[in-house]
Amino acid sequence: MEKILVTSALPYANGPLHLGHIAGCYLPSDIYVRYLRIKGKKVIHICGTDEHGVPITISAEKENKTPQELVDYYYEIIKNSFEKLGISFEYFGRTSTERHKKLSQEFFLKIYEKGYIEKREEKNYYCENCKRFLPDRYIEGTCPHCGAEGARGDQCESCGRWLEAFELLNPKCKICGNTPVLKDTFNYYFLLPKLKDDLKKWLEEKENWKDFVRNFALSWTTEGLRARSITRDLSWGVPVPLEEAEGKVLYVWFDAPIGYISITQEWANKNNENWEDWWKNKEVKLIHFLGKDNIVFHAVIWPAMLIAHGEYILPDEIPANQYLVMKGGKMSTSRGMALWLDDFLDRYPADYVRFGVARVLPETKDSEFSLEDFERECDTYLANDIGNLVSRVFRLFEKYFNNRVPEGETSGEYENRMWEIINSKIVKIEKNFESFKFRQTLQDIIEIAQEVNRYIDFTKPWDVLKKDKEEGGKIIYNSLSAIRLLSVLLYPYLPFTMKTLRDSLNLGEPSWDEVKNPFLNEGEVLKSPPILFPRIRGKVKEEVTEEKEEEPKEEYITYEEFRKVKLVVGKVLNVYDIEGADKLYKLEVDTGDRVRTIVAGIREHYKKEELEGKNIIIVANLKPRKIRGILSEGMLLAAEDKDGRVIILTTEKETEPGLGVL
Ligand code: 2FM
Ligand code: ZN
Repeated sequence: MEKILVTSALPYANGPLHLGHIAGCYLPSDIYVRYLRIKGKKVIHICGTDEHGVPITISAEKENKTPQELVDYYYEIIKNSFEKLGISFEYFGRTSTERHKKLSQEFFLKIYEKGYIEKREEKNYYCENCKRFLPDRYIEGTCPHCGAEGARGDQCESCGRWLEAFELLNPKCKICGNTPVLKDTFNYYFLLPKLKDDLKKWLEEKENWKDFVRNFALSWTTEGLRARSITRDLSWGVPVPLEEAEGKVLYVWFDAPIGYISITQEWANKNNENWEDWWKNKEVKLIHFLGKDNIVFHAVIWPAMLIAHGEYILPDEIPANQYLVMKGGKMSTSRGMALWLDDFLDRYPADYVRFGVARVLPETKDSEFSLEDFERECDTYLANDIGNLVSRVFRLFEKYFNNRVPEGETSGEYENRMWEIINSKIVKIEKNFESFKFRQTLQDIIEIAQEVNRYIDFTKPWDVLKKDKEEGGKIIYNSLSAIRLLSVLLYPYLPFTMKTLRDSLNLGEPSWDEVKNPFLNEGEVLKSPPILFPRIRGKVKEEVTEEKEEEPKEEYITYEEFRKVKLVVGKVLNVYDIEGADKLYKLEVDTGDRVRTIVAGIREHYKKEELEGKNIIIVANLKPRKIRGILSEGMLLAAEDKDGRVIILTTEKETEPGLGVL
């Protein structure tokens, strides 16, 4: 059986988790491992806290704790938050264990003895005021690459580059603000250039990786590969295992990824498993989930360490994500809430948080989180499309069949249509799960739920059941079976609620066999589930009559209504920026009758010159409205590609402004 070793980046034990952590790494990895388990794969999900290095010592100083007290404190907090969110690790360990220290020292010595590490005399920054060396984050300055202020001595958060402290412009001591001086010391350097060819060859084979991950890593093998210091003058960390190196510890980014192995050892030890079956077994697929600031360490440095060491497997996949940012930055002030995970878990059920984050996973580019969209989407998709589907079916099931699964024919005009659509979606869903496109997968699963609702709207079981119980039973049977299917597909996203739903269907752990054959056993007695997804937005549903409640949800417009929309071809004459609105353009468009002004939110997607001269499609009789003080006299039509980029609709052949669109 295929074995898959999944890791999630080890969060520093120096503070609580926020939604950025969850979107960047832990939710995607959890969705993925849950999917793999459903698929019946042997998978372990390894994580733990990263407890060494300057990020820890700086926070400890700030919080007036010893480093040990700090990591003990945050280990518990982080572990607990992950549990509440339902992130399912096989093991959640930490890097301050004896086992980790031993393994990291062995790792160092092995590659040292193989000639990949060299001692070098050098000068390091020293603060004469604080009387200490200032490694990594103890120094801040201007990034020499992107010019960002506040770049740290180890990495610039803004452009993601790994830095050496001496490269920073205008360096300052983080503790007291003094300008530090250079002082003699020595450190151990990892000789990356020796591994360049192997690394490049290995990376070039990773053709299916996300472009931004592969390109970023490859650019390092050409531009940035020089020997790097992997030790520090610091008292907190894994001591360098050489007598001459007293007082020095390993650089945290050297020991942290070794944590993946030491934590696997711990898991194996506690579960009577053999860790070498994982880390020294070429059959195992190794997958590292992480956020984009960790790419260089996982796609370049860590593989180089592994190649140098020689006994362990290398990563197969690095499905890194970009950043989640807070929309408008307003959320904390206006709602008294930052994006802290625990705040969200206090206010919303864990599955809502998982759902809301899954909707905006920054899989290919940074994405925004807005509290308003979050609440609205939970109500629209969870409460309406999924929750209400389950309750409307169960209501009739209970009323007419006393919860005993009726006999069911699975073919028929509407049934065939529904199952065909569902089955074609499943093919896509499976493919997207495998290629880490969890956002699209969720969308397709929601669309299955919407399709089932549509089936019910069309077939009107509440009417049919009054006249023909067998025919109505068929609708209930197919709907319940589709709900069962949804309970499997949604499990990776909504494990708590789907467990509740599956309990009511008398089902245990989900399996992909159910996706292939979701049909329920006739005659089985099920339990009515509780309301799965109460609405967030306070609106308590009024008591309504059955007929009213069961009105078709889809709103159709008639052809006559559609004909009222006047679509015309417009030629873009000029494009202007709008001051203070970085998403908008003001377009001057010739629509045959006159030149209109149209304000459109496409500035992020098109350059001006790409628009000028283009034929676009305009809704010409939309009531004009003021946008940013400019009267917009129409709306242009556009589509969206899979990465969320906006693509304007145009005409395939040259045409005249003002001609109607049929
Ligand atoms: O960026 C971080 O939070 C690091 N602690 C991630 C470490 S990942 C791994 F290498 F341990
Ligand atoms: Zn200082």
